[in-house]
Amino acid sequence: MSNYHIKHLEEYFQVYRKSVRYPEVFWEEVAEEHFLWRKKWDKVLEWDFTKPEIKWFQGAKLNITENCLDKHLYVRGDKTAILFEPNNPNEEAQHITYKQLHEKVCKFANVLKSKGIQKGDRVIIYLPMIPELAVSVLACARIGAIHSVVFAGFSSTALSTRVNDCQAKMVITSDGSYRGAKTIDLKGIVDEGLEDCPTVENVLVAKRINTNIEMKSGRDYWLQPLLDEASAECNPEIMDAEDPLFILYTSGSTGRPKGMLHTTGGYMVYTAYTFKNVFQYKENDIYWCTADIGWITGHSYIVYGPLANGATTVMFEGVPSYPDYGRFWDIVEKHKITQFYTAPTAIRALAKENLDFVNKYELSSLRVLGTVGEPINEEAWHWYNDNIGDKKCPIVDTWWQTETGGILISPVPFSTPTKPTYATLPLPGIQPTLMDENGKEIKGNSVEGRLCIKFPWPSIARTIWGDHERYKNTYFSAFDNKYFTGDGALRDEVGYYRITGRVDDVIIVSGHNLGTAPIEDSINEHPAVAESAIVGFPHDVKGNALYGYVILKETGEVRDRDNLRKEINQLITDHIGPIAKLNKIQFVPGLPKTRSGKIMRRILRKIASKDTSNLGDTSTLLNPEVVELIMKEAL
Ligand code: PRX
Repeated sequence: MSNYHIKHLEEYFQVYRKSVRYPEVFWEEVAEEHFLWRKKWDKVLEWDFTKPEIKWFQGAKLNITENCLDKHLYVRGDKTAILFEPNNPNEEAQHITYKQLHEKVCKFANVLKSKGIQKGDRVIIYLPMIPELAVSVLACARIGAIHSVVFAGFSSTALSTRVNDCQAKMVITSDGSYRGAKTIDLKGIVDEGLEDCPTVENVLVAKRINTNIEMKSGRDYWLQPLLDEASAECNPEIMDAEDPLFILYTSGSTGRPKGMLHTTGGYMVYTAYTFKNVFQYKENDIYWCTADIGWITGHSYIVYGPLANGATTVMFEGVPSYPDYGRFWDIVEKHKITQFYTAPTAIRALAKENLDFVNKYELSSLRVLGTVGEPINEEAWHWYNDNIGDKKCPIVDTWWQTETGGILISPVPFSTPTKPTYATLPLPGIQPTLMDENGKEIKGNSVEGRLCIKFPWPSIARTIWGDHERYKNTYFSAFDNKYFTGDGALRDEVGYYRITGRVDDVIIVSGHNLGTAPIEDSINEHPAVAESAIVGFPHDVKGNALYGYVILKETGEVRDRDNLRKEINQLITDHIGPIAKLNKIQFVPGLPKTRSGKIMRRILRKIASKDTSNLGDTSTLLNPEVVELIMKEAL
């Protein structure tokens, strides 16, 4: 029996049992079976959740790009590694083979070196979904530089916060990007962001939209001429298994984003293993994940996981609505996609459109469908199952996080029977548990609680860049000796997990993880604003949308409310990006607070969701009268 590939339910249970009983033996066998190591490990695992410190495959030496590229050159060098589908359907798709990708990565890596980038340096990548994005990620990994991809929809302030947090030496961007019918001036955003970033020495600029942009002399370089001159050979930097691979920022419940640090060996093993099993990838499949590489989903399941398995992975530059709402299905037909992995918010948006947009296309190549990023509601699940999968494709509802690096809870298709809205069972090596509010483990089935993980898995983030204390406080302090996910979950009568949503101050909007604190900080910068509180409320496409309660300063000045709303949303766009804009803004005389001054978001959430029948006891509040006033004017 192969440890690497699960083929039926009985095997899943066998492998799962072994992975819990003998985790080190299990992961050692997986790591030995499939990967290229320059030196084997001295110790499979060392961990202590109280410090917290987690080390996998200590002493092992490798380079992840050898596993993603070099390893495939002789067996599948001419196979397409990256299939690039441009924003404009009339622009030809690019089929980049493993040989070509290897060459591109080596050249890019040499360019990085020529600009002084060395092992351990941080490189910020701020690019649209064009091949250069994947290539630059891999080029960093080739030479041991730590990449940090910033989603190209983030604002200049969000970019500079990240650049400064990790003290990046270089930024890689493009002259602009296409997004449906629009173009976006990415380089302009970078220039604005870098005004306050003293550590950045160089900016490499890829050409995509061919506009005139300003190039700052001595700092900015066009990428292509440098690549033209670079050698196509670049020996991989030999890394320790625990050397950093990348930093990826995610929102937290305080203002500063958290730079989750992932390391090399464990991340490679886990993302490759889960890619193979969760998508049941076979040699001639064409796999497509619609996420952006700016998110963890793109890191693990567009770049590293698929390439470590020698897969063909699609990169799509555009949006699902351009040139019309049939674009996803057009691409599925055109490239004969076998695995399709997307977010519930996209499914809900497409399900609102006419079914002709689906029925026009031949989708019979599809074998496995996936979702990620937020809970999927029953209606969207059935629409996906009926219309896209024709009831023949198992839907893998994959639960995981930026912090977990890879999928932790998900059906294994053709093995685990699926159940709408359930992420189902833990993958091998994952030991979930539910905790009650008093810190006690909830045993048995048909129960609900806070989702924790009891034992480390190879791709868990090792720290928050520059702030280990925050890592400890956020993930390892709520419950003794357990990793706390921040999610609530229920376990049904057969042990299947269903994720019910965040139990902290993070709100998932259209699959994007947004902290309330950074949004509130942005709003509070408005000169007319005294205080604010953000909560989520149910939205039929976005899953959750944002509702802001804003207290204005008492200046006596009367301001136009609609203008104020626009200004507030503009501030949020400038500080974070358009994804964090508020759907509703209510101006309120006060916010319900506990006697210790904490905002009672629970009450605000209920008002925003129009669920005010049971607000609970408000009499212990500092200002109970304010609740009535807010309810009266609720939007
Ligand atoms: O609340 C969970 C939700 O997304 C959060 C993680 O967000 P992020 O770090 O941005 O990573 C998203 C992509 C992995 C989780 O804490 N989430 C993710 N997947 C699911 C989900 N909620 C329900 N069901 C899922 N399948």
